[in-house]
Amino acid sequence: MRKKIIAGNWKMNKSFEEGMALVTEISGMLKDEYNGSAEVVIIPPFTHINAISRMLADEKNMSTGAQNCSNHASGAYTGEVSAAMLQSVGAKYVITGHSERRQYFMEHNAWLAQKVNAVLSNKLIPIYCCGETLEEREANKHFDILETQISEGLFHLTEAQFAQVVIAYEPVWAIGTGKTATTAQAQEVHAFIRKLIHAKYGEAIAQNTTIQYGGSVKPENASELFSAADIDGALVGGAALQSRSFVDIVKAMR
Ligand code: 13P
Repeated sequence: MRKKIIAGNWKMNKSFEEGMALVTEISGMLKDEYNGSAEVVIIPPFTHINAISRMLADEKNMSTGAQNCSNHASGAYTGEVSAAMLQSVGAKYVITGHSERRQYFMEHNAWLAQKVNAVLSNKLIPIYCCGETLEEREANKHFDILETQISEGLFHLTEAQFAQVVIAYEPVWAIGTGKTATTAQAQEVHAFIRKLIHAKYGEAIAQNTTIQYGGSVKPENASELFSAADIDGALVGGAALQSRSFVDIVKAMR
């Protein structure tokens, strides 16, 4: 059975105090209301990771992560944060290649491959994001785009390295737009991604790779999305900023 992961990507939201209050609420509600097996990952801004990882130290199925890291190990890179630093403050996951990083910070696949290496060499787990724009989908290029993103960002890894990776499919047209991919659209892409992994790394690794869906996931659509065979969780943006909606999404994963 593959691991199911529901992660909340806070993006650039929440003061430190607000963040602490939100995590306290979420962990309390999950204790009272959730007995499923999904891992719940809180992905706040860098400034909150240390405190949140301490708060969650005793929670069996909760952990924290970062939204990005440097592709370099250390040195004169003003403003950057290394994977080793993230590891030292208790992060377990690092999002790499979120579409907002690709779009606003010019991160491309070769660069992301280096970030994935940095994450893995510090014993952290990359959540590698991929997804097409609306224009690319309308031109029916989405499968090609996804194949390029995945092969250029990940397929240099050895089998043992790839076995650590989590993938998140986030169609750009569904992020923050309220427009979710239909379950059939998401399932089609997830099955395609699993096929790519199968062709490169074989059946066992393909079957064990967690592939999350992201893009306007809400309590109202989570159960249906999670019922699809190849959807193993969610990377949640807006709905992760509020305890009730985030916990209800977690509860949709049995
Ligand atoms: P929304 O859930 O706000 O659409 O954001 C999705 C996302 O980008 C998560 O990484």
